[in-house]
Amino acid sequence: MGTPRLVIGFLLLVVCCLFTRGPATNNKKAITNPRFNMSTEAERKIQKQVFGRTTDGTPVDLYTLTNAHGLEAKVMTYGGIVLSLNVPDRTGKFDDVVLGFDRLDEYLKNASYFGALIGRYANRIAKGKFALDGREYRLAQNDGENHLHGGVKGFHRVVWRAQIVRGKNGAGLNLTYLSKDGEEGYPGNLFVSVTYTLTTTDELRIDYSATTDKATIVNLTHHSYFNLAGAGAGDILAHEVTINADRFTPVDKTLIPTGEQRNVKRTPMDFTQPTAIGARIGEQDEQLLVGKGYDHNWVLNKSGASLSFAARVYEPRSGRVMDVHTTEPGLQFYSGNFLDGSIRGKQGKVYYLRYGFCLEAQHFPDSPNKMNFPSVVLHTGRKYTQTTIYKFSTR
Ligand code: GLA
Repeated sequence: MGTPRLVIGFLLLVVCCLFTRGPATNNKKAITNPRFNMSTEAERKIQKQVFGRTTDGTPVDLYTLTNAHGLEAKVMTYGGIVLSLNVPDRTGKFDDVVLGFDRLDEYLKNASYFGALIGRYANRIAKGKFALDGREYRLAQNDGENHLHGGVKGFHRVVWRAQIVRGKNGAGLNLTYLSKDGEEGYPGNLFVSVTYTLTTTDELRIDYSATTDKATIVNLTHHSYFNLAGAGAGDILAHEVTINADRFTPVDKTLIPTGEQRNVKRTPMDFTQPTAIGARIGEQDEQLLVGKGYDHNWVLNKSGASLSFAARVYEPRSGRVMDVHTTEPGLQFYSGNFLDGSIRGKQGKVYYLRYGFCLEAQHFPDSPNKMNFPSVVLHTGRKYTQTTIYKFSTR
């Protein structure tokens, strides 16, 4: 008697699943209802495997996302790290364009933030302190006297909960993490959700959101080191960069912004026209000297928090192009100045000085202490959101 019911139930479920596939407008439903979020389409395009365990024994999984054009991203639950990103060159040959390691234990030891999700506060906070609602908060001083990338563990050394979802235009991996009140010195229980989608239009799309139960500060970003000629293939000096910004935030010798928003005109910071990273990086410019190269925040030309064009990178040998769009007001362009040949990455390849670059969409560094910078305060009942898209093509 139970068997026909079971069969009918199963058929109903299959029909339901068929009708709920399709437009991205179903996305909300897909995320909230576990029965629907593993669409057969998403299941086919995302594969899960066990990757290892952290030192305290927490299991870490690795997910492989692929799209219809064969692009492939591997993301793990530890640090929400993108381990590899395979995209074609102009002849159709695929290469992995992000720096990283083959094994989990190498990630556990390394401090370079390769491919990681960064929070609660990406970039630096001067002297590791800030005030909010009349109270002073103290954070880890893990970069000289300053606080960097959320602290010692931040979000890059924690294990996220993963769920396969139907993201915007493709199969997505949703990662969530509850950062407890007081963790790394920050106030409020912060619930963070990040979805990586490898879209049908060859984008790695990252949608972030966060809510809190006490006023706090939030500034999330993604920290892939790109090399569009292939990870470990050489330095990034020939890559041509365009940044949609007329101003940048100059820094002091500890890389904390002075508060000024300076025009890029007639400085080596002018990337308003496509310019090779190496064209001016060796100039005796005061800002390049303190940064040991590019390690600065650009003030993107935009008004409001719309998703808009931030940067383009073109690698002449492979013909690969990467476009960055973001809802964020700033973009940290870091030219891999701390890479020094001491790291042996994937397939044993050594990462020397400037073998990778980062484009970290974010709020400006040290915003909690700079009243003239856009606010990074998140209040209760409000939702932090940010979207950044890295889109790949060739020419
Ligand atoms: C960011 C910082 C750099 C450096 C890297 C990681 O880009 O701005 O100074 O800390 O992260 O090494």
